[in-house]
Parts: sequence; C-alpha cells; structure tokens
Amino acid sequence: MAMAVTASLALAGCSAGSEPELKVSGAFMPQPVGDMAAGFLTVVNNGGAGDKLTAVTSDISDDVTIHETTDQKMRQVPAFDVPADGSLDLERGGSHIMFMALKQKPKQGQKVSVELHFEKSDPITVELPVKEPTYNPKHH
Ligand code: CU
Repeated sequence: MAMAVTASLALAGCSAGSEPELKVSGAFMPQPVGDMAAGFLTVVNNGGAGDKLTAVTSDISDDVTIHETTDQKMRQVPAFDVPADGSLDLERGGSHIMFMALKQKPKQGQKVSVELHFEKSDPITVELPVKEPTYNPKHH
C-alpha cells in the first residue's frame, strides 16, 4: 500500500515538468539620458515547456515594446522565446525592453516597476533598479 502511494507521487512530479516555470533575475534599467529608456533582465525557465514573452507594461510609459538587435540596429519583435530548461537573456548590445515617450524620468537609485506578460504563464511583476547610464553587469 505505502509503495503504491509513493509511485503515484513520483508520476505526478514527473508530469508537472510539462509547464513553464519562470523566474526573473538580474533586472536593471540604465538611467535614461533622453525621453526613452531600455530595460534588461533574464527570464529563467526551469520547466519542461517553453513559453513566450509577449508584452511588457509599465507606469512610466504607455509605449513599451520588445526589441532585438542585429548588426547594431534594433527591431521590434512580437515575442521572445523562453525555451524549456533554458533562459531568455535581455542584455546590453542585444535584446531589450524599450520604453518610449517616458512620462517620468527615473533617476539612479530609484526603481521602475514593470509587468511581463507571457503566452502561457501568469504575468510577473519585476522591479528594475535604475543604475548609472553606462552600467553593464558583464563588465565588472
Ligand atoms: Cu530598442
């Protein structure tokens, strides 16, 4: 009897892996110099199914889009893949969140709240600490 219960629990644990399991880390916004800003973060997916980042919203701008960078030119994309057992990396020089027509200009030391919207997972609210304009965690 006890063994049968253990076996069915193990099976349940297995099938839970077919959902995306998202976690956000390393978020930041370089202090904006004009009336637009960029945001960077990593979405880690520990689940067995992929997801997509489809939209970003924020109080500081009504015009928030997601961009990829190719040959130093940025281009708006409809969604970013967050692969199963993988991650989506938004980093300087690459893909990023773009905030246009800022309603307020965040200063270094402040935080900007954004909401990430996904195809499958529930929205995730993230606080982006505002860093100096040249901040790049890869260049420590
Ligand atoms: Cu951009």
